[in-house]
Amino acid sequence: MSRTQEILSQDLDHLWHPFTQMKLWPGEPPLVIERGKGNYLIDTEGNRYFDGVSSLWVTVHGHNHPAINQAIAEQLKHLDHSTLLGLTHPLAARLAAELARVTPGKLNKAFYSESGSTAVEIALKIAYQYWQQSGRPEKKTFVALGEAYHGDTLGAVSVGGIELFHQVYGPLLFPVHRLPQPFCRQCPLGLKRPSCDLACAQALEPMLAQHGREICALIVEPRVQGAAGIIVQPNGYVRRLWEICRKHDVLFIADEVATGFGRTGTLFACELEGVEPDLMCLGKGLTGGVLPLAATMATDRVYQAFLGEFDEFKTFFHGHTYTGNPLACAAALASLGLMETNRVVEGAAPVIEHLAKGLEAIARMDHVVQVRQQGLMAGVELARDKATDTPYDPSLRMGHKVIMAARKHGVIIRPLGDTVVLMPPLSSTTQDIDLLLSALGQAIAEVTGG
Ligand SMILES: Cc1ncc(COP(=O)(O)O)c(C=O)c1O
Repeated sequence: MSRTQEILSQDLDHLWHPFTQMKLWPGEPPLVIERGKGNYLIDTEGNRYFDGVSSLWVTVHGHNHPAINQAIAEQLKHLDHSTLLGLTHPLAARLAAELARVTPGKLNKAFYSESGSTAVEIALKIAYQYWQQSGRPEKKTFVALGEAYHGDTLGAVSVGGIELFHQVYGPLLFPVHRLPQPFCRQCPLGLKRPSCDLACAQALEPMLAQHGREICALIVEPRVQGAAGIIVQPNGYVRRLWEICRKHDVLFIADEVATGFGRTGTLFACELEGVEPDLMCLGKGLTGGVLPLAATMATDRVYQAFLGEFDEFKTFFHGHTYTGNPLACAAALASLGLMETNRVVEGAAPVIEHLAKGLEAIARMDHVVQVRQQGLMAGVELARDKATDTPYDPSLRMGHKVIMAARKHGVIIRPLGDTVVLMPPLSSTTQDIDLLLSALGQAIAEVTGG
């Protein structure tokens, strides 16, 4: 048995993969990735693939960046892990200060966890408890968007709105007020830009006028609803929501797990519209995409509500075993350092432009109904009939077929239904983008015959 076969056989026998129909898994043996170098992943057979999805939206500076590896190795010489319960350590403190410095507005406190889902869970619990301890205990419910995705833990699933992922858990979830999804091409309100005057955001006004007394917070993925299919919100959308929240004294939670750390062309998507959230969820790119670390940022105003004497029990009774792991903090600090010294966000601008130009040709293809892009996040939506906007039958799994075909052209990407997601690392060169687009174009042509 070859090494690859041996690994595959262990995988098939024992490994349950995320978001995967395991019955179909044996029919399509996966690539076995064993090395990463820069923007490329290398499999056990020595084949090289461009990481066109940043290993699920996390890779910022490329794989195995020497500065991040060195920071982790250096930290290992001093301290592998120590708890933040009753103790602190230098890198947890320094990273919290750095995050307070680089995040927008008055976010001055960092609460660590390990994944985007937990960063969201923590934001929801903080928002809820904030009002319990601020003399407004009736403020208990949340507002979220149609088709939102905030992670897979139950609180995050409650505010999530993707039927396919979330429906089965219905009886376990708490009720949420739902805004129409800001998806202009198929506007749920049947309106058109710009005459709609952001009616989908404005819908928050009557909702809060009626229920604001009971609503503690709104949660939104600012500018891009990622898992919904890279749905890019119209300009001014996030700011409108933020202004209405402020007017009605409802906390604003920005879930920047996917959009943070330069993905959208600015360090944080909130900056695109001058929005200053009360709570912000960070994950994915926080460590440059190297180790699991997340942070929920809070303003001093929110934080103050948790201060009191011991027996007032205003404490935030929450904390995970690996909270603020020193190795992950070392990676995050090294990544933030690289972002500043190498001016990574500014440096990505020409690459974003190059991607936009290249996507114009993809958008003209017969079975591409829409291309959506914000920064280095792009979605290429396929359709059976472009003129009438008629989708393919989902059982055809066209998105899946396209990404499998792209592998033969040296690129790893992922679909969300029939939207093919492109999420190249911020360190991508224009040549990398050319490879990505050429592989995508060929794959779509092969699969759709168009
Ligand atoms: C906006 C957003 N929030 C939260 C999450 C959950 O993050 P994680 O998978 O790290 O739990 C994701 C993951 O894709 C996301 O896109």
